[in-house]
Amino acid sequence: MTDFLRLAEDIAREAGDMILAKRPTMSEEVETKSSPTDVVTTLDKASEELIRERILAARPDDRILGEEGGEEPGESDVRWVVDPIDGTVNFLYGLPDWAVSIAVEVGGRAVAGVVNVPARGEVYTASLGGGAWLGGERLRCNTGVPLAQALVATGFGYSAARRVVQGQVVAEVLPRVRDIRRGGSCAIDMCSLAAGRVDAYYERGVNQWDFAAAGLVATESGATLGGLRGRPVSPEFALCAAPGLFEELHDLLVALDADRAP
Ligand code: IPD
Ligand code: CA
Ligand code: CA
Ligand code: CA
Repeated sequence: MTDFLRLAEDIAREAGDMILAKRPTMSEEVETKSSPTDVVTTLDKASEELIRERILAARPDDRILGEEGGEEPGESDVRWVVDPIDGTVNFLYGLPDWAVSIAVEVGGRAVAGVVNVPARGEVYTASLGGGAWLGGERLRCNTGVPLAQALVATGFGYSAARRVVQGQVVAEVLPRVRDIRRGGSCAIDMCSLAAGRVDAYYERGVNQWDFAAAGLVATESGATLGGLRGRPVSPEFALCAAPGLFEELHDLLVALDADRAP
């Protein structure tokens, strides 16, 4: 295991334990951000604070990008990309699918990623070239699945206008696939793909902190990760599946103009 991965895993586990411990006494402080559906809790912020403190204690010169605290400048070419709770709405409702997600990038490339799902006791890890793992089990995504038999995970953003488009797109995808899942955490969706629990995942409008760690878990499991029309994965569009299914779903999403404004 790389030093980066070990440190990221230690910190993601500590943050997850802290959230589980504090959750029963959590005050009902819930604020909204970009829209009434975009919520943040006290523990999203506490988790990110703890993660930033631990990273800077170990590696004071590194840069950090976190959902709640933004980008912290630094001299180093190492950047930590942090989602302190991915799946905040699930967390708010007591559903188990929320995760602490931490990735380490060197020179802009993810080299280590951890997605800790505390309420399920599952920790996904990956390092560049070192495979994707769930505990001691090496993960391989499902291969050879045609689109018509694919279980496809997706998600919806927080803007009402974008949700209208996302709803129209998913209405066209649904009759062409085995079924759709909306799990509520981009990071867990991509890790589920790595573990063979879904076959494909797509979403418009996810952020770096949503997919930085889980994207490495997915690609190290054998999946292709990208955007539409030959672009790399970005907040504009994220599509992930084994080769073959990736192209089939890609072509459908392009035909549906799934990345159209807003
Ligand atoms: C959200 C989750 C959700 C996805 C949204 C994300 P958050 O992250 O990953 O599954 O559909 O696009 O913003 O706000 O819970 O960290
Ligand atoms: Ca959020
Ligand atoms: Ca997120
Ligand atoms: Ca979050």
